[in-house]
Amino acid sequence: MILTLVGNRPQFVKAAAVSRHLRERFDELLVHSGQHYDRELSEIFFEELGVPPPDHELGAGSGDHGKQTGAIMTALEPLVARPRPDLCLIYGDTNTTLAGALVAAKAEVPTAHVEAGMRSFDRSMPEEVNRVVADRLSALHLCPTETAVANLEREGLGGRARLVGDVMADLAMVLGPVADRRSDVLDRLGLEPRAYIVATAHRPGNVDDPGTLRRLCEVLRRAARAAPVIFPAHPRTRERIRSLGAEAELDADGVRQISPLGYLDFTRLLRGARAVLTDSGGVQKEAYLAGVPCLTLRDTTEWVETVEGGWNRLVGLDPEAAAGALEELGERLGDPPDPGVYGRGDAGRRVAEEIASFLG
Ligand code: UD1
Ligand code: UDP
Repeated sequence: MILTLVGNRPQFVKAAAVSRHLRERFDELLVHSGQHYDRELSEIFFEELGVPPPDHELGAGSGDHGKQTGAIMTALEPLVARPRPDLCLIYGDTNTTLAGALVAAKAEVPTAHVEAGMRSFDRSMPEEVNRVVADRLSALHLCPTETAVANLEREGLGGRARLVGDVMADLAMVLGPVADRRSDVLDRLGLEPRAYIVATAHRPGNVDDPGTLRRLCEVLRRAARAAPVIFPAHPRTRERIRSLGAEAELDADGVRQISPLGYLDFTRLLRGARAVLTDSGGVQKEAYLAGVPCLTLRDTTEWVETVEGGWNRLVGLDPEAAAGALEELGERLGDPPDPGVYGRGDAGRRVAEEIASFLG
């Protein structure tokens, strides 16, 4: 039996690409940590993407890192003890991932890590800490890119690394055209394709400090001079913008804050956009695969292929750098995307195969 632990929006997307392949070979016990709990960050992904309902909900909720990670560990521990899984499957780099890696390691249950080997080399990001620990403790590293494999080799972990491709890309390839047909989000928002920009932001480094958040707002307002900015705001960000009292000026300058969207609506919105501004890992990659130029609101990225291909620029929180990059987009940023760098759309199946071969 495989115990899969998920808990955040991008992990539901990743599990959607893997779970059905896993269930062709194994019994899967799906555990939801409860790190994300709002319908628009959780339930909607299970419904839209056909992820089976969780067998257990740990209800960890929000909190500082220690409280949240500890709550997940405390609730997970008995599930890993009995019935003891043959393997724990964890995704990405969140506190849910870290808690899963720690509990499994102490119970001496092997862990397979999907999205192993990703590095920003910036330890100020909580995700970087989570990734490094999860990889150190994992028995099987399922890597999305060659860069990830090389990172693990440098850390002496290459022997257990397998290049399977990117599981989010599997879904983007299949569901991108479906979203174009099925979602009416552009009509609902009164938008014409290519006449707007999409923005998302939720990194603590960008939104937690009021001064930094002001700069983020400035970048968005400056970008809105080129085209209206549609901003499906993560609840962390929405709360901080409210406390700052910056809602009205964003709105006045053409930055339209809306609630987070479900996967199909967001995918349609992204694929129809002239450009995307984001600090999300998943969104950078999905923009690349959709051929939508991306400005990343960070100084580093784990998804270096998007930058090397010319479709992603790291602009940090510099309004002028963002505006300059947006102007250039009238031309073209680089060569057309090479979807092959993120796999062939079969990463989910290969994850299941690698786990089967690992367990013998
Ligand atoms: C987490 C991950 C991040 C990932 C992101 C995906 C960590 C350290 N961070 O960041 O790597 O990119 O998920 O979206 O694990 N909140 C709600 N409703 C919810 C969930 C959260 O209102 O359903 C609010 C709460 O105020 C909470 C805040 O958002 O305090 C932050 O949530 P949290 O899960 O701690 O971190 P994220 O910013 O979502
Ligand atoms: N996403 C979504 N609705 C939104 C914003 C993002 O469905 O309003 C999807 C997006 O398509 C991608 C995933 O959520 O598949 C990315 O999650 P997020 O940005 O929260 O996390 P990260 O990838 O940075 O860890």
